[in-house]
Amino acid sequence: MRLICAKDYADVSRKAANIIAAQIQLKPDCVLGLATGSSPVGTYKELIAMYESGDLDFSKVRTVNLDEYVGLTKDHDQSYAYFMRTNLFDHVNIDQANCNIPNGMNPDAEGECARYDAVIDGFGGADLQLLGLGPNGHIGFNEPADAFVKNTNKVELTKATIDANARFFATRDDVPKYAYTMGIGGIMKAKRVLLVANGKGKAQAVKDCFFGPIKPQAPGSILQLHPDFTLVADEEALSLVKDLL
Ligand code: GLP
Repeated sequence: MRLICAKDYADVSRKAANIIAAQIQLKPDCVLGLATGSSPVGTYKELIAMYESGDLDFSKVRTVNLDEYVGLTKDHDQSYAYFMRTNLFDHVNIDQANCNIPNGMNPDAEGECARYDAVIDGFGGADLQLLGLGPNGHIGFNEPADAFVKNTNKVELTKATIDANARFFATRDDVPKYAYTMGIGGIMKAKRVLLVANGKGKAQAVKDCFFGPIKPQAPGSILQLHPDFTLVADEEALSLVKDLL
């Protein structure tokens, strides 16, 4: 694991964007694994700024997103498809035909998960997978469990995740209860993994996942086994491991 200590959220976002920008420059048709949630928003803003200044070209980039809520259309303002369009895709010269996200409206869970795994396998995994970290240590929507799930799967979201995501919906009851998520195997297939974490709310998860034992109850901990894993975290997210650095 490579740890990059950042000062604050803005610093995390700049550092992460620089790594992604380097990936695009080195391989213009690279496959980016992309994440949603509030953590990567600043990173996306930085990438948009680099595109606008003429420093980045997304025209050949392909993408594969981590997850999607089951039951939300791609035009629902809380769907991850909508999130990706409004936070990145609509602002850069990416060909959205090359952007892959699980289809939350496919009622055939088995078929959708198999289709998505075929997309990931067709790429041979992402060149660079960007991740956030759930406050309970989840990556994508791979929740704490008794085993790591390898393939894309339909997950029942934990109470903690529904609570954490309720802020984005009108009421808690509006938060979908299920999601399709890339499995741990799909994430680990990426050639490089980059996780961004900021704020006190992530301090315990950062400690459990990256400074403790590897276990499915702390899903992000599997990344300790990835040969090219970079954690970019700010001072608050690292506040519980200061003595270990
Ligand atoms: C959601 C997403 C995750 C994300 C997590 C953390 O549950 N499925 O991919 O990492 O939220 O979100 P945030 O960055 O808003 O803390």
